[in-house]
Amino acid sequence: MAAMTEELQMNPFQERLLTIPESFDVFLGGGRGGGKSYGIAYLALRHAEQYGIKARVLYLRKTYKGLSDFELVTRELFGKVYGKDAKYNAAEHVWRFPNGAYMELGQLETASDYTKYQGRSFTLLLVDEAGQFAEPSLLDMLRSNLRGSKSVPIRMIVAANPGGAGHQWIAKRYVFQSAPWTPFLEVKSKREWVYAPSTFDGNDQIDREQYLDQLESSCPDDPELLRAWRDGDWSVMRGAFFAESLSEDRNAVPRWTALPPADEGWHVYLSHDFGSAAPSVTYIVAKSPGAEWEGRWWPRGSFVLVDELATNKPNNLAAGMGWNVAQVASAIKELCRKWDMEAAGVADDACFAKTGASAGSIADEFQHAGVHFERAGKADRIGGWQMMRRFLSDAGKPDKAGLYISRACSYFWQTVPYLARDERRAEDVDTHGIDHGADACRYGLLAREYAHDVRVTWLRSGR
Ligand SMILES: Nc1ncnc2c1ncn2[C@@H]1O[C@H](COP(=O)(O)OP(=O)(O)OP(=O)(O)O)[C@@H](O)[C@H]1O
Ligand SMILES: [Mg+2]
Repeated sequence: MAAMTEELQMNPFQERLLTIPESFDVFLGGGRGGGKSYGIAYLALRHAEQYGIKARVLYLRKTYKGLSDFELVTRELFGKVYGKDAKYNAAEHVWRFPNGAYMELGQLETASDYTKYQGRSFTLLLVDEAGQFAEPSLLDMLRSNLRGSKSVPIRMIVAANPGGAGHQWIAKRYVFQSAPWTPFLEVKSKREWVYAPSTFDGNDQIDREQYLDQLESSCPDDPELLRAWRDGDWSVMRGAFFAESLSEDRNAVPRWTALPPADEGWHVYLSHDFGSAAPSVTYIVAKSPGAEWEGRWWPRGSFVLVDELATNKPNNLAAGMGWNVAQVASAIKELCRKWDMEAAGVADDACFAKTGASAGSIADEFQHAGVHFERAGKADRIGGWQMMRRFLSDAGKPDKAGLYISRACSYFWQTVPYLARDERRAEDVDTHGIDHGADACRYGLLAREYAHDVRVTWLRSGR
């Protein structure tokens, strides 16, 4: 870069961001003030420097107000680098760099705003504050504008804070895919993405104490929003039932590659919540004897939800596919084959009620189809939820049993964090929400006294 480089300083997050190879798209999913917007400006600057006349950068915000904030950032940064040699046309919102690179700052709120960009080509697309988009269709349309000559890699960068209108689709698409800073294939764009988190705490370019004061006073009655903004935590939504106990940092663990061997004292079993009009949800639960596995220590009594089967309709978390027991059983057996485990575990009491038909109970039908379920433990709903919250909160403590959920369990991560409280009984989950994953998880915890028996029964039965 040009002469005045010594004045520029990136924070550690931004330095790391710039080491991500250009072939990866990036999601900047941080708390407030971690340096995402400045990081985006640095990415634009580097792209412009590198590709010159071929670089065509589009930066987008939902509102004009947001745009003018970013204008100031670019004026400061580009001004330091180029002095008066980089020209900003404030009426067009366009930067022209000395080497011919082009950068436009644009506003996009509705489908009619999109016509401003239709048919135009860009090489780097930057979407800041993407959490303001309640759903992703406009941003997905923009992808078609990414094209350039072979010598310029095209790239999309998306930034958002948790707690906004788009929280849910963003968390699903970018956060609960892979551990931070490790690439994953994002199916919608068919591109490899990297999730790059940041918080104000790692931003050495600000007075952090003062910034925290500011954050606290900006959400006085909303501790969950404060947490989302302070910690950049995507597992919580404001007011949610598990807001206090569930945290991405503590509870979300990388996908396992295999189950631990049976003779090492782990209990591995299924926990199941049946539905037909509603989805059936089944977890593979592994309960630790106090052991190391997949590169970390799991305190004795900890539960890990290793993998999941949810029979919801595509794009509808609330609706089941209308499968009967035999169909669900066959999918469960396939999951068990994949993990090389017995198709055995626990299910809720309702599965054991005799339905009156000759087939007997749902559990009987499962048994017939080769899936063995026992009753989950007896605690009532409220007791079960309390237990779940306690295990969630205790995750990460070296001497306490915790509840850990693999990032492979996408139905869990798409539903449990958003469950609301029952308005009349604050200790209960609102049953109008999509609670099938939470229910199946709860049964898995209640099974803790039964886990051993399930295995023994099955070993005895010689399956
Ligand atoms: N490289 C940098 N050089 C100088 N100051 C910086 C740099 N990066 C960040 N800052 C300072 O930190 C503040 C927060 O950074 P930035 O606005 O990029 O964070 P953000 O993650 O986009 O925040 P928000 O979530 O609120 O949009 C900026 O206002 C600026 O004062
Ligand atoms: Mg910002």
